[in-house]
Amino acid sequence: MAAAPNTGLSAKQRGEIAAGLNKVLADSYALYLKTHGYHWNVRGPNFQSLHVLLEGQYSEEWAALDTIAERIRALGELAPQGYAAFGNLSSIKDGDPEQDWEAMLTELKQDNETVIATLRAAFPAADDAGDEATADLLTQRLQAHEKHAWMIRATLGGK
Ligand SMILES: [Fe+2]
Repeated sequence: MAAAPNTGLSAKQRGEIAAGLNKVLADSYALYLKTHGYHWNVRGPNFQSLHVLLEGQYSEEWAALDTIAERIRALGELAPQGYAAFGNLSSIKDGDPEQDWEAMLTELKQDNETVIATLRAAFPAADDAGDEATADLLTQRLQAHEKHAWMIRATLGGK
């Protein structure tokens, strides 16, 4: 018989926490993919700074994907993989390379806010179970996406 996890969390708790993390992973992947695409296709007089801004964000987001997926595995659950699985779990739509730079940034601001909402929704299951490791990961991702959203807002001229 396969060894079951014995880390102080019940199977129900691990399943509920992983369900939240699955959505976090799918939204994070969709945002990573769109940010990288806009890094390629953004156009305008501020091309260089936008290109570099987006490179910093997609690189940070890419590195986090592995950490999120491996937290799901450490809980004893399987991580979703593949475009179809992510598409079913994520509410973030593909980007449109024809858009102008302001529309691209406005979309990325909203998508970062979507990830932030998904992260906040994942907290209760982790908190209720006393799963500090997941709560810590969610906190780190909240800080990162709030910072990304601020930088995009500031580039658009907002506070
Ligand atoms: Fe590049």
